[in-house]
Order: sequence, then C-alpha cells, then structure tokens
Amino acid sequence: MAHLLEIAGISKSYGSNRVLTNVHFCLGAGESVAIIGENGAGKSTFAKILTGVIRPDEGSIRLNGEAVSFHSPRDALHHGIAFIPQELAYVPHLTVAENILLGRWPSWRGITSTGVVLRRAREECRRFGIQLDVSRLMATLKLADRQIVEIVKALTRRASVIVLDEPTASLSEQESRALFEILEHLTDEGVGVIYISHRMDEVYRFSDRVAVFRNGELVASVSPAETTSEQLIAYMLGHEKEEFVQTPRRAGAIECPAVELRGWTRPGLPPLTNVSLAVGRGEILGLYGLRGSGAELVAEGLAGLRPDIQGDLILEGRAGQVFASPLAARRANVAYVPPERKREGLVLLLPIQENLMLLVLRQLSRWGVINRRHERARAAELARKFGVRYSRLSQTVGQLSGGNQQKVLLASRMAAQPRLLVLQEPTRGVDVGARVEIHRFLADIAAQGCAVLLVTSDLEEAVVVSHRLLIIRDGGIVGELAGPTKTQARAIALAAGGAA
Ligand SMILES: Nc1ncnc2c1ncn2[C@@H]1O[C@H](COP(=O)(O)OP(=O)(O)OP(=O)(O)O)[C@@H](O)[C@H]1O
Ligand SMILES: [Mg+2]
Repeated sequence: MAHLLEIAGISKSYGSNRVLTNVHFCLGAGESVAIIGENGAGKSTFAKILTGVIRPDEGSIRLNGEAVSFHSPRDALHHGIAFIPQELAYVPHLTVAENILLGRWPSWRGITSTGVVLRRAREECRRFGIQLDVSRLMATLKLADRQIVEIVKALTRRASVIVLDEPTASLSEQESRALFEILEHLTDEGVGVIYISHRMDEVYRFSDRVAVFRNGELVASVSPAETTSEQLIAYMLGHEKEEFVQTPRRAGAIECPAVELRGWTRPGLPPLTNVSLAVGRGEILGLYGLRGSGAELVAEGLAGLRPDIQGDLILEGRAGQVFASPLAARRANVAYVPPERKREGLVLLLPIQENLMLLVLRQLSRWGVINRRHERARAAELARKFGVRYSRLSQTVGQLSGGNQQKVLLASRMAAQPRLLVLQEPTRGVDVGARVEIHRFLADIAAQGCAVLLVTSDLEEAVVVSHRLLIIRDGGIVGELAGPTKTQARAIALAAGGAA
C-alpha cells in the first residue's frame, strides 16, 4: 500500500550546524503521529520542511506516491499539506468567516456579500463538526479558537495532512481536549495528522505512533501502546546521558533564604497555582518546565513584569507583595536576565560600555554628572571579569557574537551587585564555548553568595548547573530533585507528566 506521505533521506544544515540527518518517515491515511524530542532536536525544522516553510539540503518527499517539492507553505497547502505553526498568521480585523475563506471569498460580478461569506464558512464548519461563531472578529478570539479557525481553513482547502507544532502548549486542559476531539474526527475521515508535543499524556491519549528525534536524527518510531514513558524518555535522551550528574549541594544555603515566594497564583493562561519556593544565598536553584508550564511567569514575576500575580514575596525575612514594576524589582536588588536579549535586554546600537553601565549609572553620577573615566574603568573591569571578547568598549553591542552579547547582558546585571539573579534561558542561541563559560560564571556568582534562580527549558542545563532543581507543570511545582535523584530522565518525566 502506498503511504499518504513518504519522506526519504532528509538532511538540513544551518552553516556548519547540522540540524537534521538522513530522516526517513512515513505517514498513512488516517494515522496520527506524535513527534517528541528534546529542545533543539530538530522537530520544528522537520515540520517546516514538510510544509514548505524551508527547503531541505537533501532528501525527497512523496505524496500519494508522487515526488513533490514545495516552494512555500501556500504551495504545500495546494498539494494538501497544512501547517499550524506556533505563531499563527491571521488577519485580526477580519471576521472568522473571512479568515476561513481568505483569498477565496465568493463574489458575484466583483461584489462580495458578507452574508454569503458567513453562510459558506458556517457550512464548512458544520461539515467538519466544528462549532464556531464565524461572525466574530478574529482579534476577539482566544488562542484555542484561533487554532481551530486555522484548522478549518486548512480543511476547506482539502488538506490531507495536517502538521501541528506544539498546538497545546498554551491551551487549557479543556481546550486541548476539544482540539484533540477535532483531530480524532479528522483521522476518522482519513486525514493524516502529525503533531509535535512535549507532553506524554497527549502522546498516549491520541497518537497511533510516536517518532522520537534526538540530535537531528529520527531514533525511534514506535507504538505508544507497546512503549513505556521511561522508554520514550530513554530514546529522547540517549543512553549515554543516563548517568547521574552530581553537582555539589550547598549545605545550609536554604536555612537563610535570600528570597522566598509564597502561594504565587494567577488565573488565566498559563496559570500559576500556589507556587512556593525559596532560593538560598549562594544557591543556584533551577526551575525546569515545558513551554506553557508557567516557569516563565515565575521569572517575570520576580522581574516586576507580572503585577497580576497574587502572593507573597519575602526578601531577607521581610514580607511584601509581588513586585508591581521592573523598577520595584531593581530597587529590591533583584536582577533579571530576559530570554530575548535582543528585544529586551540590550541596546544593540549603543556601545558595550554603555550597555554594561545601563543599570548603575545612578551610582556613578554625582550631581547628575557621569564621570566618564570612572565609567570606563568599571566597564572594562566587568567585561574582563565576564570574558567578553571585543576590540573596543566603544564598539556597539550589535557587532558582537551571540555568546558575547549574552556575557555583556549578564555582566550588566551583575554590575549592580544584586542579592538575587533571575535568569531565563541564559544560553539560548549561544555557541558551545560561551555556554560553558556562562555556566561557570553562574557557579562563581553563587560562590560569592548571590542567590541565583535559573529558569530554563534546556534539560541538560537545568540538571547540570543547578544545585537543586524544581519541576513545574501546568502552573504548579510537581517535584524537587537534588543529589543523586537529579537526573535528566527524572526531570523530563516529571515535567512531561509521565511516570517519575
Ligand atoms: N533559522 C535557523 N538558523 C540557524 N539555526 C537554526 C535555525 N532554525 C533552527 N536552528 C537550529 O536548529 C536546531 C533545531 O531547531 P528546532 O527548532 O528544529 O528544534 P526543536 O526540536 O523544534 O526544539 P524545541 O523543542 O525547542 O522547539 C537548533 O539547534 C536550532 O538552534
Ligand atoms: Mg520546535
């Protein structure tokens, strides 16, 4: 029997970085396949190749037995392959109906009747068993409904394969269930579904088959009914990574917490439910969770970016509320390294020196005058301490490599000598060398008595760098790992909802 979709020998590199290596993959009509794998394993790249977003360097795609090659997502959709990416593209000021029929509005002598568009869209929804108010404006819809609109859009174009990249990462439990009901309905009708997920519960609930990616290779393609979650995790991590990583635990650190959060709660999505934790002086506390787990909210709350969180914040024994603003966080001597250094952390067009001094200018200025020589000396010292490689301090930060930018960011936050350093994804997009250096700085910073909260979705980083590791899932802390229990396998099992 010919497969609906057959992928043979797909490879893809970015520069010298090989992202996919010789991937073979098949999908049958009406089959649902879950794709799992660690962050950076190549899942999204694979999905983008299937759906015409990017081109592979090597390999072929066959659809219903015929060789095809896609030049754009529109081209792939024309062949019947639809992509539902994480970041949805839609036109916010049009109605749901207009979005569903976008580019194909029925018209008579060049005149489009809103009534006809609405009726056609309503018919399409009914045909696929989907309930939606098609007269609403797209912008007023919740993300879950926008995703469903995207699916209807694909279906009205007769898609035979639907590829979804982490569709449930920001959906509630109920919304996820509704989405899977629709997908089940589609597989019954013969549509093939490929969905990328990190969540074990979904993998077991919905998929006929699980494909596991590791380091750009498809390392397993198995039936979930015959495979335990431990086995799936072992495929994801590879066996060489199974040994314990022993980070010295700092005895007594927690007896004098620098910062304590109590009962942090937030309705909405993602939610936070009664999160309490304490970071000791000199301790690196890791917080690990999948996308949508709420981990980022904890970091943002400590940065003063989430005044909507309810709960207490205890600083050196003094109780208060969650910070109302970034300024309040800075005044309390909490430093924050955001995940998107280019958007939030650094001013790319300003020189290295000014970026380093951004947060401490007040200390350096007297009667409002900045002592340039003094500033220069401080900046040079910081740059040296954090191993920033540059030619002149007057160079703009935008000219530095990603790793060096990240070091400048870290150094600028340490310039104010914070009591707590909160970092989010500190090594995302930096090279291996810089990654090792940044990890060493974190150890040094902690050794000097600073409390460090490391919020990361990088499993290896979470396990190797932290002294103690908390796991967060669906907005609540679900486990604490330390000493010999602190392994990648346990961390991911807790985070993904498999058996620990
Ligand atoms: N446009 C790009 N340029 C350079 N490198 C890229 C690009 N897109 C992805 N990569 C790299 O390719 C690798 C695989 O990325 P990909 O997004 O496919 O991973 P993933 O499995 O989807 O991870 P996640 O679970 O974090 O979504 C990563 O190392 C990433 O940094
Ligand atoms: Mg991805």
